[in-house]
Amino acid sequence: MKQKKNEGTTKRSAEINQEYVTGGFFVALEGGDGAGSSTHSHLLKGFLEHKGFKVHLTQEPSHSKIGVLLREFLKNKEIPATTDALLFAADRDIHYHNEIEKKLGEDYIVISDRYLESSIVYQSTQSDKISIEWIEKINKFVGHADLTIIIDIDPKIALARKNNEDFEKFEYAAFLDKVRDLYLIRAKQEGYYVVSSDDIIEFVQEKIQKIVIEKLRNLG
Ligand code: TYD
Repeated sequence: MKQKKNEGTTKRSAEINQEYVTGGFFVALEGGDGAGSSTHSHLLKGFLEHKGFKVHLTQEPSHSKIGVLLREFLKNKEIPATTDALLFAADRDIHYHNEIEKKLGEDYIVISDRYLESSIVYQSTQSDKISIEWIEKINKFVGHADLTIIIDIDPKIALARKNNEDFEKFEYAAFLDKVRDLYLIRAKQEGYYVVSSDDIIEFVQEKIQKIVIEKLRNLG
């Protein structure tokens, strides 16, 4: 993301538009399973498009072959955590370089439903062998999001929202409690925004929209 030079007071008005998004703007929505990052990514895309922005919505695991393999591995408890970590990093590498970076270069707002912070939080929770530093190292060639928003939810509520019995390997309360704690620690350390998902969807979305709009306004 590059900031456009201020071209006079008229541009400083409350009006924001695509003009400011030179070099793109990269938003990552994060959170524990069932927090609603997919729902909110879609709603945010619609909101920003309605405001006149060019928006590219994507997600991780991505649609690459590695992403498809990862979706399969989410059902398999026999996969070592280190293998998961390396594959998530490889998926992100191809996702960033072949898709996200390109869209940012075309001045899109890119919204990713999960990104690097998911690997930091989930894979370091998955195994004591995995440190945050190592995750950062294996992900070192990808760009960072300009804005990361953590959608926070009590795992008990999140799991109760699931209406099928087909749980993936991370979808149990004891694991997701740790994931939640680490997301909140990371938010404090890294200055990420936290939005509580314990409210009706429209209110939660409104809070997310306000954060994004404020950030975009500051680019102008
Ligand atoms: P997702 O389908 O987004 O789950 P949900 O919609 O329930 O939030 O994500 C798939 C799972 O993959 C989720 O449990 C988090 C996990 N994950 C990691 O462990 N590491 C990662 O780097 C990413 C991107 C996801």
